[in-house]
Amino acid sequence: MSDKLILAIESSCDETAAAVVKNGREVLSNIISSQIDLHTLYGGVVPEIASRKHIEKINQVIEEALKTASVTLKDIDAIAVTYGPGLVGALLVGVSAAKAISFATKIPLVGVHHIEGHISANYIENKELEPPFICLVASGGHSHLVKVLDYGKYEILGRTRDDAAGEAFDKVARAIGLGYPGGPKIDKVSKEGNPDAIQFPRAKVEGSVYDFSFSGLKSAVLNYLNGCEMKHIEYDQKDVAASFQKAVVDVLVEHSMTALEESGLKKFAIAGGVASNSALRAAMEKACAERQVEFYRPSPILCTDNAAMIGAAGYYEFINGNISGYDLNAIPNLKLGER
Ligand code: KG4
Ligand code: ZN
Repeated sequence: MSDKLILAIESSCDETAAAVVKNGREVLSNIISSQIDLHTLYGGVVPEIASRKHIEKINQVIEEALKTASVTLKDIDAIAVTYGPGLVGALLVGVSAAKAISFATKIPLVGVHHIEGHISANYIENKELEPPFICLVASGGHSHLVKVLDYGKYEILGRTRDDAAGEAFDKVARAIGLGYPGGPKIDKVSKEGNPDAIQFPRAKVEGSVYDFSFSGLKSAVLNYLNGCEMKHIEYDQKDVAASFQKAVVDVLVEHSMTALEESGLKKFAIAGGVASNSALRAAMEKACAERQVEFYRPSPILCTDNAAMIGAAGYYEFINGNISGYDLNAIPNLKLGER
């Protein structure tokens, strides 16, 4: 088969991103315009501001992606775009841009599921990785334990019943005065804290060994902080961060390893913003090594939102013939495996 170049667009949350990816695995460009500084002022992502910023940046980011890859639209075989899940107004900007370019140039359009993109980030730096494998997707909006059966084919083994792992990081970070975005800040200060200083709960979900629940842990941290305040004791920010982080990591590792053992598979990958967490990466690496399981994780820049991962996922959708029509719409609560 001849080489296929995918122009990929991602705008589901607070990053406006475009990339050019060759044959699903080789990144020719990966441009990310982050809005984090802007949203930091408000302590979290403000959807209306996100949409407006995407509109301002999208064309510029797409042009830069093509230029950096030293290609023009004439070289592009398909345009892949995230159409869900995410913030509806933010998604619409990417979807509209992709549809407009596709309509004007007749380049095929491919709608991509955001989580499928996160999982596919693993293909970029691991050219030998092929399904089936188990993947833990932990981001700001999702915590999914997935069996990747084939390209584009997924079985969801478990998911969070309440907060996503990244959401818990963001909320706890705010409570202990670290601000937004919480994940990277907790990761950093935890390095100087004692992860065994405070015993926070490791939540089990009744009826499912794979489902997650993080809201109880978040409440336990808030209760601990309130308790300190009432007793006029100053809490140690670093110890709270490290102990909280350990509670999240323990649960993510335990559920993932149970899924691996049950499946009999010997390949395991992590994905999503939380997959860039250094403690999680180290704990998963150790757990996999103990079980002679091959462990895959994208570089941190490919864990958080980017368009290269959408280009990787879009390539496999494209060669499997999954072309979208011009009725492609933003679907904020799109389920994995649905089209
Ligand atoms: O995948 P992502 O960029 O966007 C979504 O699809 O949600 O994930 C963002 C989430 C945020 O909640 C952020 O706090 C978390 O990933 N995150 C981290 C780290 N870096 C980002 N959480 C823990 N440790 C990190 N180093
Ligand atoms: Zn994401």
